[in-house]
Amino acid sequence: MTDSFIIAIDGPAAAGKGTLSRRIAEQYGFHHLDTGLTYRATAKALIDARLPLDDETVAEKMAREVELAGLDRDILSKHEIGEAASKIAVMPAVRRALVEAQRRFSEKAPGAVLDGRDIGTVVCPDAPVKLYVTASPEVRAKRRYDEIIGKGGSADFEAIFEDVKRRDDRDMNRADSPMKPAVDAHLLDTSEMSIEAAFQAAKSFIDAALSRNA
Ligand code: DC
Repeated sequence: MTDSFIIAIDGPAAAGKGTLSRRIAEQYGFHHLDTGLTYRATAKALIDARLPLDDETVAEKMAREVELAGLDRDILSKHEIGEAASKIAVMPAVRRALVEAQRRFSEKAPGAVLDGRDIGTVVCPDAPVKLYVTASPEVRAKRRYDEIIGKGGSADFEAIFEDVKRRDDRDMNRADSPMKPAVDAHLLDTSEMSIEAAFQAAKSFIDAALSRNA
């Protein structure tokens, strides 16, 4: 038994789940964990130590050393780290290690918002609120593109689009914990929805579940 109220948010990259999760955590005064960062931190540790990305035993050892308190979004957001993270995320031993740490985090009172790919299906299957946030690959690629251009960088839309589809394919088709909506998840398609509208929709699901729990 735990006193924590858990909100599980899953979905593909650039669907808006990070922004939504942070906003929800702030609204309810809950802790927030972007679980993608745990896979990214493991991948970065391997890269920094010049260790291979295809050795499950070595990768598991790194995963067990990841400190959830020290995850830095700016450092870990690099494209190459995301690619490497997606590769090591197929390894069951790496997933087991990170899922253990994520579950411990989810027990923090008064509540926790966890976002990722398998929160509602594997990490916190009993969460009282599950959201699956998605958007078309074109819209997600365009958001990535605009974000890079907005920061003064240069980007190739077609390359980003191919990348989004490749990452989806890897995340959805891996044998262990593939990305998919939990059967009891609320679907939020943000292709044509503002972040404010998505937040309001999420809030009504959460408020309803909180009043059932009260
Ligand atoms: O959300 P992100 O781009 O930071 O995630 C990086 C990679 O980590 C992504 O390709 C899949 C993996 N991941 C996962 O397998 N399970 C999670 N709960 C979160 C991320």
